[in-house]
Amino acid sequence: MTPDISALVAAARRVAANAHAPYSRFGVGAALLLADGTVVTGTNFENASYGLSLCAETVALANANSEGRFRDVVAIAVVGGLLDADGAMKGDAAIYPCGRCRQVLNEAAQMGGRDIIVHCASADGAHVETHSLSALLPHAFGPADLGLAP
Ligand code: THU
Repeated sequence: MTPDISALVAAARRVAANAHAPYSRFGVGAALLLADGTVVTGTNFENASYGLSLCAETVALANANSEGRFRDVVAIAVVGGLLDADGAMKGDAAIYPCGRCRQVLNEAAQMGGRDIIVHCASADGAHVETHSLSALLPHAFGPADLGLAP
């Protein structure tokens, strides 16, 4: 792992400790890298009305947008795992963004005019799998389909 990637995964892991996930007991942290090096984070944020729960990646992107920065995303790191009784995240599988989050990421990619690099990490720190968003979401629906240029 290059230092840039390990730092981004570390940021995602740090905020995953703040995941509000009492229902699934599955914590997720996401860290966005912006073009100027700024890191913006998010965690999953569940709700007693389960279907209202928000994913970490979507929260991170909304946080970037609140700073006027969602067009500047160049990469994202995602890490997640089941939470044990002490709140520690467990798991040996790299966690990939769900389909909805891939689509939300595509909005940032299209509006930013660049593909986004997606680093998918496991809770145990043993695995980071890296892909482009365009590989994870081929033939995406986006602003151009609605006649909007970025
Ligand atoms: N979750 C995320 O935060 N990101 C994903 O890409 C997949 C799933 C969250 C939603 C829910 O709080 C928990 O993980 C279990 O689905």
